[in-house]
Amino acid sequence: MSQSIRIKSPATIANLVCGFDILGLALEEPYDLMTLEKTDGTGLEIIHTDEYKLPLKPEDNVAGAALLAFLDEYGQAPGLKLTIDKRIKPGSGLGSSAASAAGAVFAANELLGRPFNNNDLIRFAMFGEKVASGVKHADNITPCLIGGVTLIRAIHPLDVVSLDAPELFITVVHPQIEVRTSDARQILRKEVPLQLAIKQWGNIAGLVAGLMKGDYELIGRSLEDVIIEPVRSILIPGFDDVKKQCKEAGALGGGISGSGPSIFMLSKDLKTAEAVEAEMKNIYARIGIEHKTYVTKLNAKGMTIIED
Ligand code: HSE
Repeated sequence: MSQSIRIKSPATIANLVCGFDILGLALEEPYDLMTLEKTDGTGLEIIHTDEYKLPLKPEDNVAGAALLAFLDEYGQAPGLKLTIDKRIKPGSGLGSSAASAAGAVFAANELLGRPFNNNDLIRFAMFGEKVASGVKHADNITPCLIGGVTLIRAIHPLDVVSLDAPELFITVVHPQIEVRTSDARQILRKEVPLQLAIKQWGNIAGLVAGLMKGDYELIGRSLEDVIIEPVRSILIPGFDDVKKQCKEAGALGGGISGSGPSIFMLSKDLKTAEAVEAEMKNIYARIGIEHKTYVTKLNAKGMTIIED
């Protein structure tokens, strides 16, 4: 059995506008790089080679908490050293914590001869999400692990579904402000008027049907969130302009990526996705906020093992 494994753990977009906490997709880019090695010692050591000054104590580290849950159920394990080169900025809304948590348990499972299935790995990785945001949710972890577009029908007990999807190009803008997931959850109303719930159910069902039928128009019409977005978008300068102008540039639609501040737009083809990127850049240059953009594709695979 090999002594170490190196992986790419991808960024993800949770919610997909209308599917708060239940829908998500994996991106080709950006991704974190992680190496897990067996050591002669005991216990778990975590090293970050990135600039983010994240906690290194396993219990307080998102990847560490997920790995501890894994090891607790696995039993006798060798000493492990996890080195993380985080390229998905924490607090970006691009599933940075999920990439750490899911990457850690995926790597451990591969390194130790696959003792667990995907549902187990999702369960362990949710301990990492709890450290990051105070709540267990699997809408980033699941596409990060298994790729594509995923639906979390339930987390107790875990019931996840992979959804077919047509080719999709994704443009993301990350205005360089931080929105903490815990804050973005706290501001949400705890009750939803029935009228709005009905609209949201229609959109979720429409989006799932649109993805599975490859009906781009239906996908575009269904990318509407009448519950979460009106509250959260206030935290993101330029949000309304991005949405409006990117749709005018040909995007199918889009919205807040996870809990923000990143905003994503889906397009049918690369040319449109690039035109959408130009709009995003113009808007943030005009407002005067530093930003980073990505034009990428749906990642059908999720985790990638980097072969030597
Ligand atoms: N579904 C979560 C939220 C994703 O929107 O709060 C955040 O990582």
